[in-house]
Amino acid sequence: MVLGLSGGVDSSVAAVLLNKAIGKNLTCIFVDHGLLRKNEYENVMRDYEHLGLNVIGVNASEKFYRELAGVKEPERKRKIIGKGFIDVFDEEARKIKDVKWLAQGTIYPDVIESLSITGTVIKSHHNVGGLPEKMNLKLCEPLRLLFKDEVRRVGRKLGMMEHIINRHPFPGPGLAVRILGDITPEKVSILQEADDIFIQGLREWGLYDKVWQAGVILLPVQSVGVMGDERTYENAVALRAVTSTDAMTADWARLPYDFLGKISNDIINKVKGVNRVTYDISSKPPSTIEWE
Ligand code: XMP
Repeated sequence: MVLGLSGGVDSSVAAVLLNKAIGKNLTCIFVDHGLLRKNEYENVMRDYEHLGLNVIGVNASEKFYRELAGVKEPERKRKIIGKGFIDVFDEEARKIKDVKWLAQGTIYPDVIESLSITGTVIKSHHNVGGLPEKMNLKLCEPLRLLFKDEVRRVGRKLGMMEHIINRHPFPGPGLAVRILGDITPEKVSILQEADDIFIQGLREWGLYDKVWQAGVILLPVQSVGVMGDERTYENAVALRAVTSTDAMTADWARLPYDFLGKISNDIINKVKGVNRVTYDISSKPPSTIEWE
């Protein structure tokens, strides 16, 4: 059996559960699409090894940057990334002998949000559908009927580390859906730095576990600023932090003003290319958690 890992709690819990059931018959594949958080690939690989999982890590950043170059439309970005995953995953899985099953960490909200109940697909989550027919494998999704809080309970029962269980949800297409407009390696690097300041700040101020999910969005907006005696004309970012129990609805998190002020100063002073920070105070619905 092969399983696609994403770094998130869902696929990690699925992997540990299946590892307990079938041991060395499980091979996990973790694809780095170059759109992860700062240092996330290295940190997550260390966690997986610690959990005793048999993991193959693949750095495919260049392929994804190449295929995404110039693409602005959110659903097209998702489709390109979804297909890119299939290509890389397929190539790695073919190297393993006698694979009959494909496992995924799909959870119930992924299924619902990708279903067309009213005729409208809100966002196409890339881990739902596509893969099995192409690879001719049977699909195993042990968490398909569970909500995130239930997945976390399973993880705790399995004795997994708290920092893995409490890790904020992160979209499969990663920072691609937090860079509005086209994606370049430079934009990814700016966003990784700003995001890291926000997330580390949440941890230091004891706020990380009080929010469901947080991140920074790089806006396709430049604005005028002043640094010392110099006029600047640089990017704006939005901080997003929400409270929620299942991501189906969400409220913007009432983070302390002092904290927001500190993060804004740190981002503007430390991240070259950003001269304005805003805070997103929209709830879901009618807004969504991610901006794309
Ligand atoms: P939205 O933006 O729809 O997000 O309110 C709800 C939850 O889903 C995550 N999300 C994704 N996860 N692939 C994923 O695996 C995606 O394309 C995707 N889009 C959104 C989002 O981070 C939030 O937790």
